Amino acid sequence: MRSGFPYRTGDGHNAYFNHRARFHLNFFPIHTWGRALAAGKLDHMRSFMPSGRVQLAHVQEAAERLKAVGALPTPILRSSIIDKSVGCVCHFKGEHLQRTGSFKYRGATNAVGALDAKTAANGVVAHSSGNHGAAVAAAAQARGIPCCIVVPHTTPAAKIENIERYGARVVLCEPTQTARTEASAAQVKAMGATFVHPYDDALVLAGQGTIGLELHEQLGRDELDAVLVPVSGGGLIGGIAVAIKALRPSVRVIAVEPQGKELRLCFAQRQRVLDAATANAPIDTIADAIRTKAFGPIPWASASDLLDPTVLSVSNAQIGEAMRVAFVEMKQVVEPAGALTLAALLAPEFGALRAQGLKHVAAVVCGGNVDLELLMRHVAPRS
Ligand SMILES: Cc1ncc(COP(=O)(O)O)c(C=O)c1O
Repeated sequence: MRSGFPYRTGDGHNAYFNHRARFHLNFFPIHTWGRALAAGKLDHMRSFMPSGRVQLAHVQEAAERLKAVGALPTPILRSSIIDKSVGCVCHFKGEHLQRTGSFKYRGATNAVGALDAKTAANGVVAHSSGNHGAAVAAAAQARGIPCCIVVPHTTPAAKIENIERYGARVVLCEPTQTARTEASAAQVKAMGATFVHPYDDALVLAGQGTIGLELHEQLGRDELDAVLVPVSGGGLIGGIAVAIKALRPSVRVIAVEPQGKELRLCFAQRQRVLDAATANAPIDTIADAIRTKAFGPIPWASASDLLDPTVLSVSNAQIGEAMRVAFVEMKQVVEPAGALTLAALLAPEFGALRAQGLKHVAAVVCGGNVDLELLMRHVAPRS
């Protein structure tokens, strides 16, 4: 811990000290989440969270942590054939090529890397059957600390094996939100560990925001009019918006959702949650990484006013077709969530944005973890 500032980091380096006092005023340090969860005080703490904002300096600090563990900048992919179909220049940010196969490694690495040595030694806990679970496991393995991932017992064996490959201990629970939360809290308590939330966490959001920094570095001034980003809990788009809007205020950050998520209505009414009774109900989509209905409180507080009012919604059929196009035209294997932005670009609805003058668009291809069987269903030639 550094004097005068109780927010702990593991790397001992702080290039943005001037910003930190404000950060401290607005945020609880991540390691207090774990303790609060274990003590059943999470709801009490959450009530303090919405006042906080993640800022560019936090994203830049995250980039230093990511560099320290060699989380590579991901490439920008191009296809002249796709550009022609879409009617503008498309820059595909290849997060499916990130370690663990999704952007989640960025947020997990920042959250795990920010723990001080004593707190980190007790380990980390997360609940996720998918990309977040693998990312937290890999980040913990890279730091050499214990990790427990809680997954529903209905999770396919391949996904469990993927988490175990990164050295994490897997604990099975019933497939309900309550069971996941309770099982995680029990592990946090037993290990004295820190809980890492998939999106409602300032450090996770800042880690995802490093994609925005890379886009800024990789694309020239005249090469970026808008960024299209898939949304579940909002950590990804929130982090990118914080970085991009600080560096290039005129660039539009546009959300892409699977049909059923209701983000369009939330944005129109400027309300994070439309109906508290259904906010936690999973949405029905083939984009299995995007099942969360509501935008998280921290992403909302940090970025809702930075996002474009336009929301693009895509259907299962459009997502499947985009997976095929990514494979055929770019030779890329992407999971359904990873195909969301391409699906939005190819949809007739995008014509309205093109007519508003969008000429260069970055599209985040957020993940590539897909079962072979599902992939074959979408990429196999149709009769
Ligand atoms: C591949 C992929 N894309 C998008 C998302 C959505 O991210 P967020 O919850 O930060 O909006 C997730 C979340 O798990 C994901 O795994």
